[in-house]
Amino acid sequence: MTNASIGAERLERRMARGCDFLGSKTAILCGAMSWVSERNLVAAISNAGGFGVIACGAMTPELLDKEIAGTKKLTDKPFGVNLITMHPALFDLIEVCGRHQVTHVVLAGGLPPKGSLEAIKATGAKVIAFAPALALAKKLIRSGADALVIEGMEAGGHIGPVSTSVLAQEMLPEVAAQVPVFVAGGIGRGEAIAGYLDMGAAGVQLGTRFVCATESIAHPAFKKAFLRASARDAVASVQIDARLPVIPVRALKNAGGKLFTAKQREVAQMLDEGGVAMAEAQLQIEHYWAGALRRAVIDGDVEHGSLMAGQSVGMVTKEEPAAEIIATLMAEAAQALEKRAV
Ligand SMILES: Cc1cc2nc3c(=O)[nH]c(=O)nc-3n(C[C@H](O)[C@H](O)[C@H](O)COP(=O)(O)O)c2cc1C
Repeated sequence: MTNASIGAERLERRMARGCDFLGSKTAILCGAMSWVSERNLVAAISNAGGFGVIACGAMTPELLDKEIAGTKKLTDKPFGVNLITMHPALFDLIEVCGRHQVTHVVLAGGLPPKGSLEAIKATGAKVIAFAPALALAKKLIRSGADALVIEGMEAGGHIGPVSTSVLAQEMLPEVAAQVPVFVAGGIGRGEAIAGYLDMGAAGVQLGTRFVCATESIAHPAFKKAFLRASARDAVASVQIDARLPVIPVRALKNAGGKLFTAKQREVAQMLDEGGVAMAEAQLQIEHYWAGALRRAVIDGDVEHGSLMAGQSVGMVTKEEPAAEIIATLMAEAAQALEKRAV
């Protein structure tokens, strides 16, 4: 056996559990990205042997229904749907997934509300849940989550406070034997994938690395901002008012950051004046992000919109087909595992 095939065979073995769970050729998920992860990118990822996930974001059940149907027209491979737990129509969205016999539902954005896991599982779908800490991971497994995503603060979009490397060390030894765990945040190359697989991960989830895929419908100006940026340009948003606990968002620095500060002030003042309750205030912040991201991804307003991006953005150097990105990641991972032989 040549060295190259030793590496590839080792990689295949390490990814087997994740592939089995996802029904895909590789255990690489393209994490849902609002406005970016629509039918074209999702189908391209799944067709290339990865696992695409539709970002439902703030979509209505009718829109999600159309997006799933459109994706099915472009691929016969498995893909998932990402639902945000605080969506007011969560149970209707679950029903839409059930009608389409979606095989995997990814729950993001906080602890799943009562009955939601059961409702998803009743459709026959597997539940993948984001676990921000060890205690919550254990709770999610007890509640019936079939797999977990652990995502570090290097990631693009909404982030927690802990880095991927620390989460992986804390959580994989404790929970990876029970359910498949996919590691996300800051992964730009295959060497890192090999490392997390060796630590017990069943697979990985990447977002930033896939934004500039040829099939991604992100505006050319949005992609250009990614190609120009380096790791240090992807910064976390700052909370300006202690009473309004906003979830930090990692994005490329631009004038839009100032707009977010102004939005926080506006919402904090509404809280002060008793105009809104805390839950409504937080929902307003989330609506702000959805709008700002749309402005950048779809309209190409890279100055005032939100350029959500992870620290791996510096490793995004060209626009290329999803299949090539996956092939590169797999080759790098195999190469890294091959070196373990000597
Ligand atoms: C532009 C953008 C939008 C995102 N939107 C969502 C989303 O709607 N739902 C979600 O669960 N995660 C979202 N994420 C997170 C990704 O699914 C993924 O977990 C993350 O990008 C992985 O880290 P990485 O960016 O370092 O690869 C988003 C990330 C980016 C870059």
